[in-house]
Formats: sequence, structure tokens, C-alpha cells
Amino acid sequence: MEAMENNRIDETKLSALLKNCGFGHPLFYQELTDSTNLEICRARQDGMGEGTAALAEAQTAGRGRRGRSWASPPGENLYFSLLLTPKLDPSRASMVTLLMAMAVADGVQSFASDVKIKWPNDVVINGKKICGILTELRFEPGGYYVVIGTGINVNQMEFPEEIAATATSLKKERLLAAAEANVAAWGIDREALLAAVLKSFECYYKKFCADGDLSGLRMEYEGMLVNRNAHVRVLDPKGEWEGLALGINDTGELLVQHTDGTLEAVYAGEVSVRGIYGYV
Ligand code: BTN
Repeated sequence: MEAMENNRIDETKLSALLKNCGFGHPLFYQELTDSTNLEICRARQDGMGEGTAALAEAQTAGRGRRGRSWASPPGENLYFSLLLTPKLDPSRASMVTLLMAMAVADGVQSFASDVKIKWPNDVVINGKKICGILTELRFEPGGYYVVIGTGINVNQMEFPEEIAATATSLKKERLLAAAEANVAAWGIDREALLAAVLKSFECYYKKFCADGDLSGLRMEYEGMLVNRNAHVRVLDPKGEWEGLALGINDTGELLVQHTDGTLEAVYAGEVSVRGIYGYV
């Protein structure tokens, strides 16, 4: 509890950093919640609109993709969610996940090198995951809204055994890089990181809403894609197969070339991909 008190987000500093940002207004900050995604649903029921954000130091029921949970220890990481009300067909909404991956990669670049995206939305450093993003669509009378929740491993040093091989944090990677370069590693400013991510997300989101898809951001996304021009194993429930990942299409599907040269667009809702020799 003492460590948690020492590691609280500085709300005054954060709100100053978010002054000119369209996201984080209002910002609901809590020491403990069940899930920041659920906080956003409650905020919507209370009448909040686009730009609302929820941030917590810890979650008791952090939600992950595919029904998994997201371990959320206190005072070390960032757990936050945003409320979006895009004026687009709901079928387009899940693409915002890729925008957030780009925004996190941008924000993290100031603290680490070799930051990449593993399709569709895992941000990785040195091939290990530092971020998870969960986008949820909620229908309401007259339309729908989107909750996009992001967990970034910032200062966590220990990971449960089952994810230790594939998960890392900014601090861990920074200490490793500092040890290699024989220099001191300094702390990671969570307020600056969060503000950088939200500002970057706002830019991508505006472009996405104007275009209605990822056509204007595709090249930028592909520039960050660790799987680009890489051999991948497609974990399709109907049967696994291997191919060469070339990039994404305008809706964010991964374009994978079969050995016979045919191209297949792989949809993230149905399958995931792995590198041939490991996680990426
Ligand atoms: C994944 O499984 O990779 C996605 C994990 C998403 C976790 C974040 S933490 C903040 C937000 N609140 C949640 O309950 N989940 C997301």
C-alpha cells in the first residue's frame, strides 16, 4: 500500500499535459476499479461523451482479448480506457484497435528502441509484448459507442510464469539496454507517456474518421509492423497454415501470401498469428 501511495499518477501534471488534447476530458482517475472498460460503460450510462477517459492504478477484473483476464498490479503500469462515438458503421469500429497500437508505439518510442507492432495490436519491444488493447462495442438506443481499453507494462519487473517468456515492460527493456550500454537507466514518466499516447491517438483517430477506414494510415502502420515481409503461422481454428505476411489492407486485415502465391486477407476476430520460430 505504501509503494502504491508513492507511485500515484500526478493528476495536476497529467491534466496540464492533456490541456490541448481532445481525449482525457473528463478523466476519471481511481486507485482501484474492477476494469477501466467497465468504468467507461458506467460513464456513458451517466451521459458522458467522446473524449471521456478512465484511468486506474489497479484493476480487480482487468479484461483481456478472447475472454482472458489482464493482470493489473498496482502503481506500476498504465491501465486506461477511452469512450469513442465514431459516426461510422459499427462494422468499421474495431479498426480503432490498430490506431491505438500505433499511438502506443509512438508514445513508447521516446523511452525505448526497437518498438514494433505484432499484428493486429500487440506492441512489442525486442519481440516481447508490452501492451494489450481491448476494444468493445456497446449498442445503445439510437446507435452504439466504443470502449477502447489499453494496458501498458511500464514499471513491472516480474511477470507470472505463463507469460514470462512473451511479456516485458518498458522498465525491464530499458534496464537491459542500459546494462548493455553500461549507462544508468532512469525512471519512466507515466504522465508523459500517457499524454503522448492520447495525443497521438487523437491524430490517428481524426484521420480514420475522415477516411472511414485505414487507407490513409496503412503505410505508417506497416512501417511499425514486425510481421511485415516475415513468415508467419496463421492460427486459424479451421486449420493452421504458414505464409508470408506482406502488410494490411484498408480494413486492417493481414495480407498473407500462401506458398502457391495466392493472397489471403486474415481477419483478427477469427485468427491470430505467430512467428515461425516464436511469438513474433
Ligand atoms: C489483451 O488481451 O491483449 C488486451 C488487454 C487489455 C487490457 C486493458 S487494461 C485497461 C483496460 N481495462 C480492461 O479491463 N482491459 C483493458
